Formats: sequence, C-alpha cells, structure tokens
Amino acid sequence: MPIDFVRLSAYLLVGFFGLIQATQAADSRRDEHSRSNPEQVRVTRVELDLTPDFDRKELAGSAILHFKRMPGCPEGAPLDLDTRELTIEEVSESVGESEFKPVRFELGGEAGSTSKPGEDDFARILGSRLRISISDWAARVRVKYRTSPSAAALQWLEPPRTAGRRHPFLFTQSEAIHARSWIPLQDSPGVRVTYKATIRVPKPLRAVMSAEHLPNSGEEGNDQFEMTQPIPSYLIALAVGEIGFESLGTRTGVYAEPSVVPKAAHEFSDTEAMIKAVEARFGPYRWGRYDLLVLPPSFPFGGMENPKLTFATPTILAGDRSLVSLVAHELAHSWSGNLVTNATWRDFWLNEGFTVYLERRIVEDVFGRDRADMEAVLGLKELRAEIERLPAHAQVLHVDLAGRDPDEGMNSIPYEKGALFLTTLEQSVGRERFDTFLHDYFEHFAFQSITTGEFEAFLTERLLGGKEEAVSRLKVKEWIHEPGLPTGFQEPRSARFETISAEAEQWVANQRSLDSLNASEWSTHEWLHFLGSLPKDLGPDRLAQLDQAFQLTKSENSEIAHHWLLMGIRAQYEPAFPRLESFLTSIGRRKFLMPLYGELIKTPKGKDRARAIYAEARPHYHPIAVNSIDELLK
Ligand code: BES
Ligand code: ZN
Repeated sequence: MPIDFVRLSAYLLVGFFGLIQATQAADSRRDEHSRSNPEQVRVTRVELDLTPDFDRKELAGSAILHFKRMPGCPEGAPLDLDTRELTIEEVSESVGESEFKPVRFELGGEAGSTSKPGEDDFARILGSRLRISISDWAARVRVKYRTSPSAAALQWLEPPRTAGRRHPFLFTQSEAIHARSWIPLQDSPGVRVTYKATIRVPKPLRAVMSAEHLPNSGEEGNDQFEMTQPIPSYLIALAVGEIGFESLGTRTGVYAEPSVVPKAAHEFSDTEAMIKAVEARFGPYRWGRYDLLVLPPSFPFGGMENPKLTFATPTILAGDRSLVSLVAHELAHSWSGNLVTNATWRDFWLNEGFTVYLERRIVEDVFGRDRADMEAVLGLKELRAEIERLPAHAQVLHVDLAGRDPDEGMNSIPYEKGALFLTTLEQSVGRERFDTFLHDYFEHFAFQSITTGEFEAFLTERLLGGKEEAVSRLKVKEWIHEPGLPTGFQEPRSARFETISAEAEQWVANQRSLDSLNASEWSTHEWLHFLGSLPKDLGPDRLAQLDQAFQLTKSENSEIAHHWLLMGIRAQYEPAFPRLESFLTSIGRRKFLMPLYGELIKTPKGKDRARAIYAEARPHYHPIAVNSIDELLK
C-alpha cells in the first residue's frame, strides 16, 4: 500500500504544532517566582501549629504538609518547598498514621551565589529552596521551624502602635510571595491547599485567620481554624491582637480593635447588600461567612482579600461610607481571585482587572450609576498617568516579570487597564451576554488557577463563538499583549465631574469665587476630581485660599488629605507640612506613602525632609512598605 505522504505530513505537522502548543501551555504555567516542584510532587494540605513570641518577634512551631506525586513523577523525586529567612529545626516524614521519623533536607538557592547584582536581588526575593528527600511510601512531612524578626510577611506592632495601646498586635500579608517567610510551602498561586491551624496565644489576645474559626477545643488560649476549600498560599492569613467583633448580618461581621469596632460597623453596613448584588449576577458566594478585619494604620495596603476575612486599612473609615468601594473590591475577589486564581504572577491582571470590573458593577448596583461612573473616570485618569510613567514593557496586561519582584507589577495596569478591557467587551456584546459569560467563567474555573492563555481560549470560544474575526475586531491581542491603550474604547464620563472641572478652571482664571462653588455638597469623589482638575503648578497663595475656604489641611478623609498633601509638597505650601509629617508617621499604606515620598524627593530641600521623616517613621512601617521606600530613597 502506497504511503499517503500528504496525509502523513499533515499528521506530523498537526502533531508538531500540538506539541509546541502543549509545551507553551505547560511553560506559561511555570511559575518563575517559586523554587518548588509541584509538577512532580504537589502539596495539597497544610497543618500549622504556631506560637507567636512578641518579645522575640518570631513565630515558632511546625507545619505538616500532605503531598501527592504527580503523573510522570520520576522515582526518588524530592519534595521542594519555598522558604525565606526561616530557621529549619527538624524535618521528618510520616511513617504510618501518626508517627514521623527524621529525614535528610537541604536549604539551597540563597543569594550571594552570583556576581551580577540584579540576579542576587532576585535570588533574595525568591528565598531558599528547602529540598526534602522523601521516601516512596511517605505522604506527609513535618517541618519544625521558626521565623525571622525581619520576615517580610509579618508585622509585629508594639502596644503604642495600636488603638488600645495596651497589647501588641501581629498580622501577616502573604501576597504576592511572602507566605514563604512564615510557612515553608510551595508558594505559587498555581498550587492550592486546604489548611488547618492551631495558634497558641495568651488571653486577652485572640487570633483570627482566613478560615473558619472552630469552636474552642477547651484548651486555654488556643485558637483553631480550618479551611476546607483549596486556596493558593498567598491567601493564608493570620492576625493576633486584642480584637473585638460586631455582627453586621447573618453571614457578615467586622473584627477590629475594640475601640474601632463601632465606627467600622457603621462604615460597612452595606456589606450584605454588596454580596447579594454579586450573587444575583455572577453566582453564589461560596465561602460561608464574609467578615472584615480592620487593622492598625500601619497595614501596608488598602485591603487584602483573605478568604472569609478581608483585611482592611482603617484609612477607609471616613465616617460617610464614601470609601467603601474598597470593600466591594475585596469582596469581589471572592469570585475573581479566590475562586478563579491567577496561575502565575504574570497573570495578575486576571485577579485584579476582573475585580475592579466587578467592584464597579457592585458600586453601580448598590450606590447607583453616577458613583460608579465617577470611580471609572478617576480610574482612567490614574491609568493614563501610569502609562506616561511606565516603560512600554510594563504596560502590558500579560506582563513579563522575569527576574523581577512580583510586587513591582502592582500598578494601575492590571487593575484599570484590565477593567477597561472587560468594560469594552461588555459594551460590545451587551451586558446580558457578558454577565452570562462571566457567570459561566466563575463556574467553569471554580477553585482552579488559570493562565492568561486559558482565559483567552475560553473568551474566544464562549463569548466570541470561536470567530477569529471577532477576536481581531475586539482587539483582544492588543489589549492583552501590547503596551498602551488600543483606540476606539468608550470613555467613561460623569456629568457632575464635567461641571466641576469647568468650575475649577473658572476659579483658576479668576472668573469665579470659591464661595460660588457648591462645595459643601460635594462627595469625596467630587473633591478628588476638583483637586485633580487644578493645574499642577498651582502656587502656595492659591493653596492658601483653598485651605482657608475648605480647611483641607485638616481633612480627616485620607484620600482627600493625601491628594491635598501632594499638592502642598508641589507648591511648597508650608502650612501643610506639619500635617504631612503626622500623616507619614502614623499611616503605613503604601499607596499613600510612595507618591508622597516620591513628590518630596523631587527637590533638594524636600529630599532632606523626606529622609528626616522616614528616619522617624521607618521602624513603624511594614517590611513590604520599607522595601519600596528604601528603594525610592536610596
Ligand atoms: N490583592 C490586592 C492587594 C495586593 C496586591 C497585595 C498585590 C499584594 C500584592 C488587593 O485586592 C487590592 O487590590 N488592594 C487595593 C485596593 C483596591 C480598592 C484597589 C489596595 O490595597 O490599594
Ligand atoms: Zn485587588
């Protein structure tokens, strides 16, 4: 029988490209920010037993890790974990049900092994690989360890740094790759684990975690937690302190230091309505309870979506609920991020872009279209400024992070460009179809970690009917893989903002007085827009006029104060500097600190001021904020 060469070569060709595609897919799942080996041996469950020591600033105890061998795992493969600055005291493996016997282990991949400075920094960020020689029969290992006082995930607060001023406080921040500084594990968002924890704390302190708090086993000062759903390591979270609680609804509540609880409960009263808003469109809330924990002011972020327990900065407690879109955001992560997770940090926009999109939908449903539009306009303005600042390669949604700290990818691109892309898709197919698509997306990928490529394939098939023509008409590749913004998207608009910009211009041109503005009626958003509409080179005299009319230096709203202080630095408006100093020494939120220090160091005098303030404030900032500001001021 003659060989059908044409058919054979067609098969070979298909096979060849199939292979390339498969390797590309496998490759895009590879996490360049982990030294672990989940493709061979994969951790599935973590059991922690930890005791915080506030005097030594260390957590000590053990982690038992359950693991499974993956298909094709070579015989004798070790278990590789991520660690950073951990002291490993003993490693043992399971023999039968409850016995453990010591095994060989080795720490490797520390910094200092190369001569190139950039590579050394990156090695330090990754930490050291803990390689454990496991026997064929073993299914669990136990690692006894303690953390370092400089662990990046941990912030230890002395009593004066808390609201109550009587007890110390500890909290963790694991995202992006800091979990490895307090737990030895496979610290990659592509690896999901269930977990259980015993945290031993003396009364009246209590522990809370991103898990269900089990009814106390009876033992004094011993809090137990269980997370039965598989989550990525960056969502494992712990806080210990004098912590009170108030219920907000049947499945919602707020934890905070006791004196902060009433204000927080008032601020977050719309939480249940927000959950209902998402559920009505995008599928059930799958995590049981949704609680919030308000941290002391040194918390380095606005919020962190730890499952079942969002961590939040107290700087959103404005008193008028005007900054609660942050709650909408962290809640939305219960779908985008916690349920469907970015497989690597290159895919971070899948977490944050989707979340900002959902956040705006929640705000629209709960507070109305006007407010959602205002937030979208403010977001786009920030995005455009970010695009001006960033090099082209950093403006890409599917960003290349090779050799870089994933925390560097935290800018407006994944957030606002990601959300704008989704809004553009929504507008082109219509809201109803897009909502169905998103609903199916969360259902289809629930409890999985996915890559940008997997999203693109799902989008093409489920929303665009597999039509390449639609993919190119909607500029999908441009949005995801190219810098800048594609042309032709619809600009968000706010009529109220347009009036305010016009008024701001008239005041600047001396055609309008400040009392003729309707400022007493303005919301936080309108204030932010007004301040943002003023020219960058506004002098100190004009700032003095504004300050006299509106007492902006005294503003208790953190966002308004932040914006005003930036203007104050730029104009060298002296009366704002005492407030700037107290702001910078009392608040640790990186989003506020970075622009303020960044603006200060633009002049020689400002640089001296920045150094002086930082010398005082640095011991009280979170290690993650310290890293960023050290870099800025060096
Ligand atoms: N998951 C992020 C915080 C984060 C990102 C921590 C990357 C570490 C690395 C969280 O959901 C977030 O986006 N927080 C924002 C607030 C939000 C309203 C944009 C923040 O903290 O500013
Ligand atoms: Zn987020």
